Amino acid sequence: METVFEKAYLENDELNMDAISKAAAFLEEGKLVAFPTETVYGLGGNALSKDASKHIYAAKGRPSDNPLIVHVADIKSVYPLVKELNEKAKMLMEKFWPGPLTIILNKSDIVPYETTGGLDTVALRMPDNKAALKMIELSEVPVAAPSANTSGKPSPTKAEHVYEDLDGKISMILDGGEVGIGIESTIIDMTGDTPTILRPGYVTKNELSKLLGEVKYDEALLIRDKEKAKKIVPKAPGMKYRHYAPKADFILIEGDEEKVIEKINELVTEYENKGYKTGVICQDKTKDRYKCENVISLGNKENEVTISHNLYATLREFDKRETDYIFGETFMSDNLGTAIMNRMIKAAGYQIIDV
Ligand code: TXA
Ligand code: MG
Repeated sequence: METVFEKAYLENDELNMDAISKAAAFLEEGKLVAFPTETVYGLGGNALSKDASKHIYAAKGRPSDNPLIVHVADIKSVYPLVKELNEKAKMLMEKFWPGPLTIILNKSDIVPYETTGGLDTVALRMPDNKAALKMIELSEVPVAAPSANTSGKPSPTKAEHVYEDLDGKISMILDGGEVGIGIESTIIDMTGDTPTILRPGYVTKNELSKLLGEVKYDEALLIRDKEKAKKIVPKAPGMKYRHYAPKADFILIEGDEEKVIEKINELVTEYENKGYKTGVICQDKTKDRYKCENVISLGNKENEVTISHNLYATLREFDKRETDYIFGETFMSDNLGTAIMNRMIKAAGYQIIDV
């Protein structure tokens, strides 16, 4: 299949309406289009079409029990897709949409099980990207969209990443430049008694609690131990797969900063001596402290959006450099750091060394 590749914005930052109309027409015909959002690129198809959803799973090589997020261009488009839009969920939409928050509600009959991975609930989100919103609006359908990567690889933060994974498999890639946040939306389940975060993201537990009162994390998210992780099944089916992963073996080193640097340098020497190519993921402040030729800083640790913005592109870059072992510093915090560490721990397959 030929994949059309077009820019979403013109030189002056105005929408490229020719390209966006073309994308909307593809969606209306049941075809697939990759598009930019504020989090990561999405691979969109008509959420009400069984065939489009099946095609999404096939293009990504994704297991079909892993449900898709349905993207809308406004709140009123949610009503036909859900059994009921409860007050609290509506408040969330009014406060955080458009934006990086996905809300789980009970689905109506028009949403096919092919889209929800067999579940009776549906994940809903209104992305904060002008081109995406215009495309969804013109297509006149809700748009099911997982991240536009091959299943298991880091999510795409640039159109080039989408091209690497999906060229020839989908009808169009709408290039909106680099995304802002760089990791996927926060997911909150609003179908139970207590709102539950199923995936941490840019919208934090604190912000959600301010509006909703008690909010909890799905217990599977707090696990750092591989054996425990195998036993507790996360409520977001996608969170159980090894995700976001680079080809290299990725190991996190956590603890006192000086000890972390010392340990990483030790590991670099050990593995280089064994003939492996090593790499280090760190922050600006420590990047000159490593005795390794392959060091990438995610940025200034205080600026968490820069760290999240750079994470997936860095993991992909290590793949390009054919790195065998990546040693990484950690980036935990109560804010975006929770989401950054959630993705890093999964990318590392729970390999964490405490020093
Ligand atoms: O930022 C984002 O959310 C991006 C952009 C493209 O919007 N999308 C994204 O989609 O990350 P995806 O498919 O890569 O991740 C969707 C996650 C999976 O972990 C999936 O299991 C979960 O959402 N999910 C979807 N529907 C669900 C449901 N009904 N119940 C529980 N989890 C659900
Ligand atoms: Mg994904």
